[in-house]
Amino acid sequence: MIPMMKDPDFVNLVGGAPLPSLFPIKSITVTLQDGSQVELQEADASLAQRYAPFAQGPLIEWCKQQVSALHKPPGPWDVQLTAGSMAGIDACLDNLFDRGDTILVEEFTFTAALDAIAALGLNVVTVPCDAGGLVPKELKRICEELGAKGTRPKGLLTIPAAQNPTGTRLRCAQFCNPLQPKMPRLSAISISNATNVGELNL
Ligand SMILES: Cc1ncc(COP(=O)(O)O)c(C=O)c1O
Repeated sequence: MIPMMKDPDFVNLVGGAPLPSLFPIKSITVTLQDGSQVELQEADASLAQRYAPFAQGPLIEWCKQQVSALHKPPGPWDVQLTAGSMAGIDACLDNLFDRGDTILVEEFTFTAALDAIAALGLNVVTVPCDAGGLVPKELKRICEELGAKGTRPKGLLTIPAAQNPTGTRLRCAQFCNPLQPKMPRLSAISISNATNVGELNL
């Protein structure tokens, strides 16, 4: 349905989408501190008032280019737009975790994320970090210790780049590079079905 809805010649009555001519905003002009103005012309302003899959298109492509250029994430990855990082974290926590589940977090992490985790009633286990972020052998040890007690962490909250508050960058290669088998890969540390709730800061 969505590809058809992107075709301007296709009139789709199923989605209940309003006619663009009925959108209330014609154009948007924003004045920056230096006095310069950014204008969203009629076509873009109209697009911005449509439902997310259409409105987000150009912005999400731009975000993907930025993530790719700045972070070069290994393996498959994607970008999801949310109304701020906390909205994304809340959505992940709400959808993926149940009260009483165990979540691993970096030794020092973003306080509001810890508040959200506490509000959900999750069991928090901290993983020691150093200048390269999470310490792989500590992560492995903690997973093994939890496993011995019959507890399987359901996920890991990690801030891989520009960690808040430590400012470190995760030693990605050691977690993700299959050519370094001595390092525990996140997918290989016996937390099957584990979820990584990661944040990337631009
Ligand atoms: C690591 C981290 N996560 C989440 C947030 C919250 O971001 P937002 O204001 O976009 O919800 C911040 C803000 O500083 C942050 O540093």
